Amino acid sequence: MSPSELHAADRTRWFTDARFGMFIHWGLYSLLGRGEWARYTEAIPPDEYHALADQFQPRYFDAAAWARLAKAAGMKYMVLTTKHHDGFCLFDSQYTDFTSDKTAAGRDFVAEYVAACRAEGLRVGFYFSVKDWDFPAYFDGPERNPEGWAKLVDHFHNQAKELLTNYGKIDIFWFDCSDDANFRGGWGDKTADVWRSQELVAWIRNAQPDILLNNRSGLPGDFSTPEQTIPHASQPGVFESCVTMTYKHWGYSPSDHYKDTWRLLDELTACVAAGGNYLLNVGPDPDGVIPLPACERLLQVGEWLRLHGEAIYATERVLPDWWDYFSGGRITTKGNNAYLILQLWTPTGVLSLNQLRNDVRRAVLLATGQELAVRREGRRLLIEGLPALPPALPFNVVKLELDGPAAPQFYY
Ligand code: GLC
Repeated sequence: MSPSELHAADRTRWFTDARFGMFIHWGLYSLLGRGEWARYTEAIPPDEYHALADQFQPRYFDAAAWARLAKAAGMKYMVLTTKHHDGFCLFDSQYTDFTSDKTAAGRDFVAEYVAACRAEGLRVGFYFSVKDWDFPAYFDGPERNPEGWAKLVDHFHNQAKELLTNYGKIDIFWFDCSDDANFRGGWGDKTADVWRSQELVAWIRNAQPDILLNNRSGLPGDFSTPEQTIPHASQPGVFESCVTMTYKHWGYSPSDHYKDTWRLLDELTACVAAGGNYLLNVGPDPDGVIPLPACERLLQVGEWLRLHGEAIYATERVLPDWWDYFSGGRITTKGNNAYLILQLWTPTGVLSLNQLRNDVRRAVLLATGQELAVRREGRRLLIEGLPALPPALPFNVVKLELDGPAAPQFYY
């Protein structure tokens, strides 16, 4: 490992241990209840959209309640949309009046959010959209309107610096949409130049040496950000899948359909078994309330993690692509332990595995602490004495204490 790779590994350690975070999309668009893209997809004229700020006075906004919920869900960090594509800032900015602080709400929600995360011991992330529909120059593009574009880029740099100067130590800066595929196909490998990202990233690394940056500035960053998908383990490097809890929207959209807890845990465990993080989104309503169906699911996931967190936090993938071969569930590892995350349950009391070459010293059902008998028959590892009915739902975990690091064996 080169010194810079080593430093990067140190920096990302807390992140890869954390495995699970809360994404929050909240802003003026929450008033409309049709997701976060409404300004653009409905071609809402600037004046009409700006007027929404007069109504944005969230009666029940309570950052501490959000942070407590994230913690109860077993999440270790949060990422809030400080500014989405619509340009409305949830923070006090000297570079625009289109902020929650200078309009009806009269509050710096980012400041309240940062304080709440810290109070709960959660790491603090700032989502920031590079793309900004509040700038006509954005729609002109850098070639047609170089002057307007330069102002937009300055605005981006100024606000990023503002956010990373005024709120103390920040753990993640989550750029979005620098390479805008919606904008005439995007800029590909020119993206970082178009936004002068090299310059800004150098400033950030100096100002906040421990901060993690995602890969959406046009530069590789500390982690990649597969969106609405859980990659296979062959993904190189550190990754964080960001995923909506409803089927489609990130911002508040009451008519969208919620995934069930089984599905959320399926996604979480798939991510972790592939060696990645799971950033699960909620879209609070215009009053600042996280909708009850989201609370219900988060609390259920948290309950599951209280019994089975050992199989999730600070674990690693066993081998690239290997988890996919274990159809009954997923496998993670930590030190000399392997964790079988079982999605299938049979009343036979016996689990037969063809995935590990190791000798097993001890097998324990995590939910109850019950010790299980283990024996090997050739390739087959037999775990016996499981109860007829599953002690926990939706998934159970069998912890195997091995004779050494997990040594996978393939079917062929
Ligand atoms: C996309 C969307 C955006 C959402 C984001 C989350 O970039 O434009 O609405 O915030 O993905 O990853």
